[in-house]
Amino acid sequence: MCGIVGFSSRRHSAVGPLVNGLRRLEYRGYDSAGVALQSDGGIRVYKQTGKVGELEKLLKEKLPAAERDAFKMGIAHTRWATHGLPTAANAHPHVADGGRLALVHNGIIENYAALRAGLEKRGVAFASQTDTEVLAHLIAQFDKDDFLSAVTQALKQVEGTYGIAVMSMRHPGEMVVARKGSPLVIGIGEHETVVASDVSAIVAHTRQVIYLKDGDVALVTPDGVNVYTLDNAPVSRDVQEIEFDLGAVEKGGFDHFMLKEIHEQPEALRNTIRGRLDKTDGTAILSGLNLTPRELAAVRRLVIVGCGTSLHAGMVGKHYFESLADIPTSPEQAAEFRYSNPIISPDDWVIALSQSGETADTLAAVRESMRKGALVSGLCNVVGSTIAREVGRGVYLHAGPEISVASTKAFTAQVTALLMTALKLGRTRRLSREEGLRLVAEIERIPDLVGAVVARSNEIAAIAEKRCKAEDMFFIGRGVLYPTALEGALKVKEIAYLHAEGYQAAELKHGPIALLTEKTPVVALLADIPGKEKTVGNVQECRARNAPVVGVVTEGDEEAASHVDDAIFVPRTSEWVAPIVSVVALQLFAYHVARLRGCEIDQPRNLAKSVTVE
Ligand code: F6R
Repeated sequence: MCGIVGFSSRRHSAVGPLVNGLRRLEYRGYDSAGVALQSDGGIRVYKQTGKVGELEKLLKEKLPAAERDAFKMGIAHTRWATHGLPTAANAHPHVADGGRLALVHNGIIENYAALRAGLEKRGVAFASQTDTEVLAHLIAQFDKDDFLSAVTQALKQVEGTYGIAVMSMRHPGEMVVARKGSPLVIGIGEHETVVASDVSAIVAHTRQVIYLKDGDVALVTPDGVNVYTLDNAPVSRDVQEIEFDLGAVEKGGFDHFMLKEIHEQPEALRNTIRGRLDKTDGTAILSGLNLTPRELAAVRRLVIVGCGTSLHAGMVGKHYFESLADIPTSPEQAAEFRYSNPIISPDDWVIALSQSGETADTLAAVRESMRKGALVSGLCNVVGSTIAREVGRGVYLHAGPEISVASTKAFTAQVTALLMTALKLGRTRRLSREEGLRLVAEIERIPDLVGAVVARSNEIAAIAEKRCKAEDMFFIGRGVLYPTALEGALKVKEIAYLHAEGYQAAELKHGPIALLTEKTPVVALLADIPGKEKTVGNVQECRARNAPVVGVVTEGDEEAASHVDDAIFVPRTSEWVAPIVSVVALQLFAYHVARLRGCEIDQPRNLAKSVTVE
C-alpha cells in the first residue's frame, strides 16, 4: 500500500535518495507517486500517475540536474488510491498555506468529511478529493511559531490512522513525522536523517533506526531526531540496528523478487529454526513466547487469526496443534473474526499470523482478543511491526525481507514456526520425548528438503508451459494438504491472473466437478501421507471428465505418478512436513505460469504487500 520516504541532509541533495527510496517501496503496490522538495527558495512539488519511473521522467524534464543540489530536504510518497481516483491531483504530497506546507500520509482519516466541511466554511479551497489534503490544511491553520505543536494540535482532531511526514517554509530545515496505526521508521545517518514507512527504504543509508510507536511525533533535522507524545512531552526511543543488509532488498541476479524469495527458502528456514530446537528434551525453545510450562498447560483452545496466505498457514497449524498437542484449534479469517463478537475465554490462546505485522484486520482481531482477556501472541516476520509490538510476545520468523507481493518464504517459515510451537505445546501434554525427538530431527531437515524442491525449478517450468494457457484451474488436497491447495490457487490467481480455486479433494464432486473439461487442469496434492489413496480416487474422477491432472507426488511413488498426466516430485517426508515441500512446488508452478503468460510478477495489479486498510 502507500509508502513514505523523507530525507534531510546537510550535504546531499534529497532528490536521488527520495526517488531511490520510493523505488525500494515499489513492491508494496501503488498507482501514483510524488515528491516535495524544500530549498531556501520554497517548496516544489512534482506528482505523476503510474510508476516511479514516470515521476523520474517528470523530474528530468522539470528539474535540471544543476538545480537539484539546492534541495537538501524533501518528502515523497507512493499512493494506493482509497479516496479519489489515482490522478496526479490526488497523488501526495498535498500542499497548504499557498504551497508553503507539504505533507505525505499513509492511512485513512475517517472524519475527513466533517473536517473538510469545517475548513471549507473558513474559506479553504481544496485541490483534491483525498482525505489527506484535509490534514495538510488543518496543520496550516495552526502553523505559527512552533511546528511540532501545529502538527499535534491538528492530529488531535483526527480520527483514523496515519503515518505522516510534513514540512513547512515557516520552519525551514525541520520535518515533523508522526504515526498512529501506520508504521514509520527513522534512520539516523551522519548529518542526514531518513524517514520511511518501511526499513527497506532506509538500509541503503544507515542501519541505525528508531521505530516510532503509535502516538509518537518526532521533529527531524539532518542532525537527528527528537521524539514527543501528542501532548508535546519528550519521550526516549531506543536506536536499534536493522538485522539485514542492502543485498536482502535487491534482486541479486534473479529476474524477480518472487523467484529470489522462493530460492531463499532453505536459508530463510534455517534462520527460522536456528537455536530453537532442543535435542535433549525433544522440544522447541521459543523464548519470545515468554510462557511458563504451567501457562502452556493451561491453554484449552487455540485461535489462529490471519488473512490470505497467513490464514492458509494457520489452517495447516490447526492440524499440528490438534494432532500433536490435542488442543482444539480454529483458524479464523481476521476480518470475520473481529466483527463476529468472538467468544473468548481467558484460557484461549490467540496467535496472530502476519508477515508484515501491519495487516489492519489482523491487528484489529488482536486488539479484540486482548480486550476480551485472551492470551495473545504474534507470529510475524517484520521486526518491530505493530502487531509484534502490541502483543509483546511471540515468535519472529527471521525469514528476511519479503519484497514480492506474493508471499512465499513467509508461508513456509510460518508453517515451520507453527510446527515448532505445536511441538512445544505437545511436550507439555501427551507427546513423549521420543516423539518429540523424531519431530526435532524432521524439522531440522526442512531446509534441505525444501532445497531439493527448489532444484526442480526447470522441470516445473516445463510442466507449467503445458498448462499456462488455461483460464481456469482447480487445486485439490485433503487433510493437512487442503490449505496447500488453497495457497496454490491463491498464488496462481495473484500473479498469473488466472481463475483458480482450491478445494478439499472430496468436495469437488459436490458441485465444482461440473466445470471440469479438457481445458481445466487440476493440480492434485498427492504426497504419500495418510489419505493419499483417497485423493488418487478423486484424481481418477477428474480424469474421467478429461481434465488434465498435474500431481505433486512423493519421489519414488510411481503408483501415484501413474495416475496423473504430469508429476512434480517432492521428497518423502512425514505428514507434518508434506505441506511445506508441496507448497514450494506450487509456488514455482505459479511463478512459471505467470512468467510464461508475461505477467507483472512482483507487483501484480490491484494488490498491495501490506494491507493496512479494512
Ligand atoms: C498472498 C499475500 C496476502 C497476504 C495477506 C496477509 O501472497 O501475500 O494474501 O498473505 O495480505 O498479509 P500479512 O501476512 O502481512 O498479514
